[in-house]
Amino acid sequence: MKKKILVTGGCGYIGSHTIIELIQSGRYEVVSVDSNVRSTPETMDRVEKITGVKVKNYRVDICNGPAFFKIFEEHPDIQGVIHFAAFKAVGESIEEPLMYYRNNLGALANVLEACRHFNIKALIFSSSCAVYGEVQTLPVSEQTPMGQAFCPYAHTKQIGEEMIRNMMVPNPDMNALILRYFNPVGAHMSGLNGELSPDKPNNLVPIIMRVASGKQPSMTVFGDDYDTRDGSCIRDYLHVSDIADAHVKALDYLLEHRNEQQCEVFNLGSGNGVSVLEMLAAAEQVTGRKLHYVIGGRRAGDIPAIYGDSSRANTLLHWHCHYDVHDMMESAWKWEQYLDSKNI
Ligand code: UD1
Repeated sequence: MKKKILVTGGCGYIGSHTIIELIQSGRYEVVSVDSNVRSTPETMDRVEKITGVKVKNYRVDICNGPAFFKIFEEHPDIQGVIHFAAFKAVGESIEEPLMYYRNNLGALANVLEACRHFNIKALIFSSSCAVYGEVQTLPVSEQTPMGQAFCPYAHTKQIGEEMIRNMMVPNPDMNALILRYFNPVGAHMSGLNGELSPDKPNNLVPIIMRVASGKQPSMTVFGDDYDTRDGSCIRDYLHVSDIADAHVKALDYLLEHRNEQQCEVFNLGSGNGVSVLEMLAAAEQVTGRKLHYVIGGRRAGDIPAIYGDSSRANTLLHWHCHYDVHDMMESAWKWEQYLDSKNI
């Protein structure tokens, strides 16, 4: 008997890849809720093409409590919630902090309320390595203390984690896993699902793909004077389908009662630090195209290097990354070409 899971933000980048992995595990049935303010309903058609399963998405803003709770009334057999739905643009959060606090924390409050009211015992929360702030020691483990958040987006993830911990105290039946992602990139290996970036993406891989496909003549490497092996910043990139797979394993862990504490934290990273210039070289190799770039100044708020220690997830969730940087670039490139072929 499959267990029914509610995924918030199911039409989004990590949400949709997670739905694919949940379905393909054969153990889970999925219902999605996504307002589509930052995603499109067509994502579910792509999920269907890959999995053969049509997932129902409720087009509801989960900040609207009554509309959100109705979904639980319609599906009293929901056993777990994976909560992705949130705004995540660092720059925008600095411009519009209240929009971030309202949306990300208001939504989480309703998710927690629903879990309590409808007796949902398993919650998985999307957090970020951004909660660590500027770190002094690498790799970052779950014991690394949280530093000063460098933007309101990161602050909403810090507060969100605290909200969940605080809700555990008066609700001893509730269980939660907080997953702190490093840099998820790439697309489904079929090339049929990936990230729908805004017109002007801010993240490295979508920008690389725009340059490779000729939509943008060149790009800037933000700084080559860091104290790193080639002077450019180092990050812990991991394939989006690996992140998605971690959610399936996290659900198994909670629903099989393998957690020792009511609320546990896991880093999700590959453990490898890769520099911006190394990412560019990998993209040139995969696409067979010369990428034009200039070396520019440092981007405000960037830290020189961060990568994670995910051994806790390796050991307890039995989760390991299957894809490398080459796969990340190859799938991102396939997805870019798919978008071009559909004029998206
Ligand atoms: C950023 C956010 C992080 C968020 C994540 C979501 C910041 C400071 N951090 O991570 O909180 O969780 O996105 O995916 O924004 N780069 C270039 N040229 C470009 C774009 C990026 O050199 O045109 C470099 C950046 O300086 C950085 C690396 O590429 O060193 C990765 O950048 P990005 O993809 O934006 O991710 P993060 O900054 O690590």
